[in-house]
Amino acid sequence: MPFLSKTRSIGLVVGYLLACPGVSAGQNHTTPAKTACHTLSTLLGTDKVQSAGGAQYEASATGAWDLYNQFDKPTCIVFPRNSSDVVSAMRTIFHSDAHYAVRGGGHSAMPGWNTINNGVLIDFSQMKSFSYDPVRDSIFIEPGVLNGEVSDGLQSQGVAPVGGRVEAVGFSGLALGGGLSFLSPSQGWACDRFRALDVVLTNGRLVTATHTNEYSDLFTALKGGGSRFGIVTRYEVDAIHVGTAADKTYWGGTINVLIVTTVTYSNVSGTFTTAASVTLFYNGTEAQFKQVFADFLAIPAIATNLGPLSYNEVMKVLTPSQAPGIGPRATNYGGSTLYPGQGLFEKSYNNWLNFSVNFKDEASRTFWVITPVFQSQIDVSRAHGGTSFTPPNGQFPSFSFLFPLFLARFPSHVICSDIYDRLDISRIPRSPGLPLYLNESEDVQDALTTYSGYEKLKEIYRKYDPTRFNVRRMVGPNGL
Ligand SMILES: Cc1cc2nc3c(=O)[nH]c(=O)nc-3n(C[C@H](O)[C@H](O)[C@H](O)COP(=O)(O)OP(=O)(O)OC[C@H]3O[C@@H](n4cnc5c(N)ncnc54)[C@H](O)[C@@H]3O)c2cc1C
Ligand SMILES: *[C@@H]1O[C@H](CO)[C@@H](O)[C@H](O)[C@H]1NC(C)=O
Ligand SMILES: *[C@@H]1O[C@H](CO)[C@@H](O)[C@H](O)[C@H]1NC(C)=O
Ligand SMILES: *[C@@H]1O[C@H](CO)[C@@H](O)[C@H](O)[C@H]1NC(C)=O
Ligand SMILES: *[C@@H]1O[C@H](CO)[C@@H](O)[C@H](O)[C@H]1NC(C)=O
Ligand SMILES: *[C@@H]1O[C@H](CO)[C@@H](O)[C@H](O)[C@H]1NC(C)=O
Ligand SMILES: *[C@@H]1O[C@H](CO)[C@@H](O)[C@H](O)[C@H]1NC(C)=O
Repeated sequence: MPFLSKTRSIGLVVGYLLACPGVSAGQNHTTPAKTACHTLSTLLGTDKVQSAGGAQYEASATGAWDLYNQFDKPTCIVFPRNSSDVVSAMRTIFHSDAHYAVRGGGHSAMPGWNTINNGVLIDFSQMKSFSYDPVRDSIFIEPGVLNGEVSDGLQSQGVAPVGGRVEAVGFSGLALGGGLSFLSPSQGWACDRFRALDVVLTNGRLVTATHTNEYSDLFTALKGGGSRFGIVTRYEVDAIHVGTAADKTYWGGTINVLIVTTVTYSNVSGTFTTAASVTLFYNGTEAQFKQVFADFLAIPAIATNLGPLSYNEVMKVLTPSQAPGIGPRATNYGGSTLYPGQGLFEKSYNNWLNFSVNFKDEASRTFWVITPVFQSQIDVSRAHGGTSFTPPNGQFPSFSFLFPLFLARFPSHVICSDIYDRLDISRIPRSPGLPLYLNESEDVQDALTTYSGYEKLKEIYRKYDPTRFNVRRMVGPNGL
């Protein structure tokens, strides 16, 4: 089973033991977690530290977005209210040598990245405040905040952070992995706009990292390198002046087209009806929009839904609730990054069709999602000090590279099938030298190892977590 990683096997424990013979629960790490939970409930109280049966325990244990993460049973769940609680939690976890996990918005599809069996889960669902500081022209965000909550909440003040494209997703995990937003072509990745990060280090020490202070190395690592460097308890980010509800400065929306594709595969010749949609926005007039996106608008459409929009309305265009087949789903990713114009784009599309054929009897839906990254975005990123993955400058005049993403959602009864054997990620074409997007690739793709700053990242990790506690005691990005 080449793609069944250690990480994956932890995730697959999930209460499917009967349906999945052979999947073992791994190490027995109950005792240190029990010690940690006992100490923590004494320190913080049973309101903030709950075990099975607690008022919020069940909702949290089963509350992650992805099915892979809905079955683990944390020994206890800590619901911090402020950074002091996180300091107590981390110090206790470290000294008890317990396994643990951290959850922001809970949208990661990587098994075990936001939940834990026999360990301590730190769930930020009670740390959801955010505010705009007009003097500093920045936004403070706590790690439990979802993208939509902050863009809705600050709408009347005309500002928003560079976050994501889907409201229900957490700001926290998204930004730590990079963060792609509709604002990104002009404003950079979400993490490019970090100003200061309050971070609880593995040993329980709380520090504030900025681009210029003594923790600037940690600051850069957290721009894309994510969860293993410490727990971020507060983000200070640039306020982007996106306008209020009355400022419908954007033109755009969605265009749906129908593509009928014939693919041939080993057994039968199958015909697939593929619905494609393009989501296009331009901060400008209708005339400018039509000029900029003329090529897209020339495709015969079955439905168009375009018009003047405020930024907040832009954020509501991709609501997952509109997607059919909602319900518990296990999601598998296959990420790539490539330069168009080398045949890779076509290859990627064809491989996705083949992939869809492979899973046609099991997957609820498969997706091929393309996010273009423009040179302007890389320029903004560099102007803000770069990230741990900063890509090379583009080879093309108008845009630099694309993130193609293969996505498949499986209903609960198939998550134990041999998906990983058949999800042959090595077949997904990519251009050497381009970083994978941590948040939109499969954990076995080892995104961090594709970063331009990978060697530096390892060095920074050694400095901030000398005993490699996070690699040993939490599930997260591979490669450190
Ligand atoms: C429907 C959907 C739409 C998406 N759309 C976009 C998009 O438009 N743009 C985009 O860039 N990405 C998008 N993503 C991917 C998204 O970036 C990731 O799923 C991301 O992990 C979500 O963050 P979260 O806080 O909700 O997740 P969580 O699962 O809570 O956290 C993800 C990871 O970050 C770690 N983490 C979270 N908070 C902290 C913290 N405070 N300190 C340290 N570590 C922390 C967790 O331990 C975990 O490893 C989308 C995902 C989904 C499911
Ligand atoms: C794990 O350890 C605990 C405490 O030592 C013990 O009670 C439990 O039975 C063990 N579980 C397994 C699966 O070995
Ligand atoms: C966190 O809250 C506790 C009370 O629950 C308080 O004693 C402590 O000072 C607070 N810490 C911070 C940093 O605000
Ligand atoms: C997104 O990036 C963060 C930060 O590195 C990481 O912890 C998280 O698990 C990533 N999400 C996914 C779905 O890979
Ligand atoms: C959108 O365009 C308006 C008008 O040109 C401008 O004031 C505003 O700053 C732009 N918004 C962003 C986020 O660039
Ligand atoms: C082709 O597929 C059908 C149904 O999916 C199956 O019954 C048949 O055995 C397959 N044929 C071969 C030669 O694999
Ligand atoms: C389609 O995928 C299968 C399984 O991964 C592989 O064996 C086959 O060679 C692929 N076909 C093409 C045309 O890529």
